[in-house]
Amino acid sequence: MASGFSAHQFVDAIRSVVGHDSLVALHEPDITAVEHAFVTECLDSTFVSSVGVFVNRFEEEIAAFTGASVAVAVANGTSALQVALVLAGVQQGDEVLIPALSFVATANAVVHAGGVPHFVDSDPVTMGMSADALELILSTFDRRGLQPVNPQTGRRVAAIAPMHAMGHPLEVQRIVALAQDAGIPVVEDAAESLGSYVGKQHTGTFGLLGILSFNGNKTITTGGGGMILTNDVEIGRRAKHLTTTAKVPHPWLFAHDETAWNFRMPNLNAALGVAQMTRLPQFLSEKRVIAEAYQKAFAGVEGLSFLEEPAGTTSNYWLCSVALDEGREHERDEFLRVTNDAGIQCRPLWELLSDLPMYQANPHGDLTTARSLQRRVISMPSSPKLGRALAVGKS
Ligand SMILES: Cc1ncc(COP(=O)(O)O)c(C=O)c1O
Repeated sequence: MASGFSAHQFVDAIRSVVGHDSLVALHEPDITAVEHAFVTECLDSTFVSSVGVFVNRFEEEIAAFTGASVAVAVANGTSALQVALVLAGVQQGDEVLIPALSFVATANAVVHAGGVPHFVDSDPVTMGMSADALELILSTFDRRGLQPVNPQTGRRVAAIAPMHAMGHPLEVQRIVALAQDAGIPVVEDAAESLGSYVGKQHTGTFGLLGILSFNGNKTITTGGGGMILTNDVEIGRRAKHLTTTAKVPHPWLFAHDETAWNFRMPNLNAALGVAQMTRLPQFLSEKRVIAEAYQKAFAGVEGLSFLEEPAGTTSNYWLCSVALDEGREHERDEFLRVTNDAGIQCRPLWELLSDLPMYQANPHGDLTTARSLQRRVISMPSSPKLGRALAVGKS
């Protein structure tokens, strides 16, 4: 017989935070008259496609918000990561160190960039790539040349792409220091962490490049969209050029100077992004209200714990999550079944990338912590409007 908080008590605790609507989504887009006004302005202008003022404005606002020198808006987070990896120097057949515990896009982007994902274990507190595990893997590489080579595979190791999971910042400064020491560039997958900081510095701005996603389930959305971040102005210029068909600027000539991508974010999506940016500070504070309410609801309960932001960081609490205690892995699916049956959308972490059929043969280190987290963590509804309702309830 299991000990500790039951799945039904879990439902009651979540209900005490999210209220009693028949269906509570995991993370919903928050669309108001502000979004309608900006998108209508864009539609009325007829500049709905690859040219228009909203793209530049969205890029400038994201750059100002994150502190990145350059922000380049693209079609989605996956394409942002693919281009960022290429700009970091990934070439056909190179190995790229990524966490085993991530959304499939992290690995797919590596492959689309020509690389081979090499999976690294997770940190039990941040859920992101473990700096200790990375250090251990780096110590096995042949570091006599300009860039390390994995002696097991004979491949050059061209980039490290850690990911800030669920909005909780990982130990990015330690990872960047280890990477610098090894001569490997870092590309941060900050798809989930808009509004998350280590100290006062925004996630996605520690590495050579970083990326964000504005998919419909993210903290702000453009419908679909992504952003490449960098503090290197020349790399930023290249990112813009390569994602916009490498067109040579000219009033009427169609000349292109490289094989490139058409990954530009349409102006229509950027208009939605500009509208959402006016609301981002509010979303972030509402999401903290939910996080605090969950934290209280789960304080002192036996058998599971709320995953708080790591010390020294500010999390955007993209998806508030709990971890069942070790030994309760077998109960996870019962928790997911009971919550979803009750109309509360909860979800597990992703299957480990190294377990997916297309990545099973890829190199990896010991993945004990990633596997343990994967079996125990459950994410709960975290839409900003839930925090708004709680704040109204209190006043
Ligand atoms: C960790 C991570 N990386 C990359 C992506 C890819 O972003 P997109 O869906 O915008 O392509 C996502 C989410 O969607 C993500 O969660």
